[in-house]
Amino acid sequence: MLTLKEQNLLALEEKYSAHNYHPLPVILEKGSGVFLYDVEGNRYFDFLSGYSAVNQGHCHPKIVETLVHQATTLTLTSRAFHSNLLGKYAEYITGYFGYDKVLPMNTGVEAVETAIKLARRWGYRVKNIPANQAEILVCANNFHGRTSTVISFSTDPDSFTDFGPYTPGFTIVEYNNLADLEAKIQNRNIAAFLVEPIQGEAGVVVPDEGWLSGAKALCEQYNVLFIADEIQTGLARTGKMLACDHENVKPDILILGKALSGGILPISAVLANDNIMLLIKPGEHGSTYGGNPLACAVAIAALEVLKDERMAENAEKMGQLWRDAVLKLDSPFVDIVRGKGLLNAIVIKHPDKNAAWQLCLELKNNGLLAKPTHGDKIRFAPPLVITEEQILESVRIIGKSLPVLENL
Ligand SMILES: Cc1ncc(COP(=O)(O)O)c(C=O)c1O
Repeated sequence: MLTLKEQNLLALEEKYSAHNYHPLPVILEKGSGVFLYDVEGNRYFDFLSGYSAVNQGHCHPKIVETLVHQATTLTLTSRAFHSNLLGKYAEYITGYFGYDKVLPMNTGVEAVETAIKLARRWGYRVKNIPANQAEILVCANNFHGRTSTVISFSTDPDSFTDFGPYTPGFTIVEYNNLADLEAKIQNRNIAAFLVEPIQGEAGVVVPDEGWLSGAKALCEQYNVLFIADEIQTGLARTGKMLACDHENVKPDILILGKALSGGILPISAVLANDNIMLLIKPGEHGSTYGGNPLACAVAIAALEVLKDERMAENAEKMGQLWRDAVLKLDSPFVDIVRGKGLLNAIVIKHPDKNAAWQLCLELKNNGLLAKPTHGDKIRFAPPLVITEEQILESVRIIGKSLPVLENL
């Protein structure tokens, strides 16, 4: 039952904020590490982590301290001028991931758009694709964000219906299917293959081992750029710094976002080598906030924290422990448990279409926040600072909550 205070806050949102989300009925006001607290002071395990933006844990002290210091020093110059931090950040992040250059943006989808522009530019200027004929291969059930170009190649009707006309130049291939990719990649007008190494929004769909490296090999064979959207999978989430690292794949273009700030600011980045990045010249692309000093300082701190606190190693260990413990629950309602590191999902087996939502409500009542994605799947992706004891406690909460499905 919601208190009067909570009902009033929900009513405000309902009345004045657009209805483009369907949140769980919980009103949060504080976060620390793996925990969130609602306006009544109730504590919850956060198993969404802001869709993997809060890998470093809520309000990580080192990142917050950096933010506060920089916020009182210099926040924004625009790229009309230089700042003392852009070069430092660019050197740091390119060294961290092994690329010549970074192009800083803000949200994830802006970075995806940037990668698309880079790939098309490369297609025309390097691969000699005829003007305006460039095609980009994308996967069925992809999620790369919400701009009108990016939803143009979504296969999810909720994302694209009645938002047309759509941007042309995208060809859908089946995820996890090398034969389909090989058939379509041979078109001379293909500039790039854009892929999520694990499909997060689709319900944590993990491709077969060897698919990603096979796809990269096909890209090399047919002179096509391999673009990895690691906005959700990157930055230690799956047990390696990048999900592509599991197969030793080095993308030609790497897209990062979300946890690049530890959930503190919208910061995204596109990384590539000079043969691609220098095809964009002054005045041809940019963003008012992209590369601002506040973002540069925060991103360095957020990346340092990931390495200093060995978060990839913890994600790998805790993820295995979590999946094993959930399987041990041996619930008739758990059809599949899948994932890598701390990017996991449960597929619910239940005749009621609302079962995943009902389970999330019960999890909330028992102190754990998670959200269904695409009907019957629930993503479980806590901050990477989670401890063994907390993992086991979270699984106890899931075990205690599952019986709610007996009465649906
Ligand atoms: C793989 C992937 N790409 C792109 C995006 C879009 O990022 P943003 O919401 O910051 O625009 C998301 C967000 O969930 C994502 O998971």
